[in-house]
Amino acid sequence: MEKQQDRVMNEIVSLCKRRGFFFQSSEIYGGLNACWDSGPLGVELKNNIKREWWREMVQLRQDVEGLDAAILMHPRVWEASGHVESFVDPLIECKNCRKRFRADEITSDKCPSCGNAALTEPRMFNLMFKTFLGPLEEEENTIYLRPETAQGIYVNYQNVMVTTRQKIPFGIAQIGKAFRNEISPGNFIFRSREFEQMEMQFFVNPKEADKWFEYWREKRWNWYLAMGFAPDKIHWHQHSENELAHYAKAAYDIEFDFPFGRKELEGVHNRGDYDLTRHQQYSGKNLEYNDTIAGERYIPYIIETSGGVDRCALAVLCDAYTVEPERNTDEMRTVLKMHPKLSPIKVGVFPLVKKDGMPEVAREICTELRKSFMVFYDEKDSIGRRYRRQDEAGTPFCVTVDGQTLQDQTVTIRERDTMVQVRVKIDEIARMIDEYTGSWKRDKGI
Ligand code: GAP
Repeated sequence: MEKQQDRVMNEIVSLCKRRGFFFQSSEIYGGLNACWDSGPLGVELKNNIKREWWREMVQLRQDVEGLDAAILMHPRVWEASGHVESFVDPLIECKNCRKRFRADEITSDKCPSCGNAALTEPRMFNLMFKTFLGPLEEEENTIYLRPETAQGIYVNYQNVMVTTRQKIPFGIAQIGKAFRNEISPGNFIFRSREFEQMEMQFFVNPKEADKWFEYWREKRWNWYLAMGFAPDKIHWHQHSENELAHYAKAAYDIEFDFPFGRKELEGVHNRGDYDLTRHQQYSGKNLEYNDTIAGERYIPYIIETSGGVDRCALAVLCDAYTVEPERNTDEMRTVLKMHPKLSPIKVGVFPLVKKDGMPEVAREICTELRKSFMVFYDEKDSIGRRYRRQDEAGTPFCVTVDGQTLQDQTVTIRERDTMVQVRVKIDEIARMIDEYTGSWKRDKGI
């Protein structure tokens, strides 16, 4: 029998496809494993997450600068970073069904898929995608698709510091694609081979690293709360000695209770002086910081916050996914109760009927609201069905133009979570949406 968690996850995946959040990459060719395309709603959701992150991490701060480094980097970067040597997973293959697993997924001498005891010895597999720079496919032209955005920040730390006249402590933030040839991708967009990261690297005096580590842990935790996550669904996980990545001195993950288990959303790491020391060694460039205030020279320590955009989007969808009774009917409705600031569409606009000038007025309202918000115009099917379509998309407000609108310039505005409707003047709609978005709290109504 299908487990409850599997059923919920299957429903979320199916809603994502049906409503245009995420599609399998190259679907008409049978799909490309563990690569996903963001559809019209998915791209809005991800843009909203990225915008909120950028606002918090860059726009509102004096001490963090933005960057957008190239995906392709000098191959020596990945030697210096330790990825060529250490970004490996032990891979075990089943000789019977040919399925491949990370060693940590094998708990007995039997294949988890077919149950056969024909497993190979583990062999090391590097997760970086390789390609060639220029026309010659030769070993010396090998370069990599970046497996993390962080290295683009480290190699630019002096460029950014000099051009912005920042002094330590300061940070550099970046959002961008990363690629990993994962052995066991899965759980929909949770672990894919192409994904987006939101990373911030904060450069500090080594003596102050512990203080800043705690500071960023708190900031990042509060950011997830501000995105509307139910506080009892996110958790800290401290890395034990044997979990720590090759660069990390200390690390905590923020985890979320996905339907398929408690899993990492974001890591906060104290990377020590590992990265800049290695880049200094491999590039031959002096990356020391001359701290005129403390009167010392040192290689800065780095506190990193590293989250996944796609993973955050999936967590938002899972957290928001609700099936509950429809008001005044015995039917059920599916609704995405996400924070309105993350909702792909902010307002649906409907004429009650397709006549008597109502579509014209509704379209005029759309044109006006579109200057500020993502708007969806819908005149097809009954009002109830139109509401339900927007509930499934997570749209926080639906505006309906009816007979009264034509007389007194008012519309009904219906709130997604409570389904409560109020009547407002047309020129009040935008202000109302802003106000409710600003004060939205889980389980609070209009
Ligand atoms: N620079 C440090 C770093 O990359 P990581 O823990 O390997 O650390 C950071 O990755 C975040 O990137 C994860 O918390 C996750 O949100 C996201 N991420 C990593 N691998 C991913 C994958 N295969 N698919 C989707 N997101 C991934």
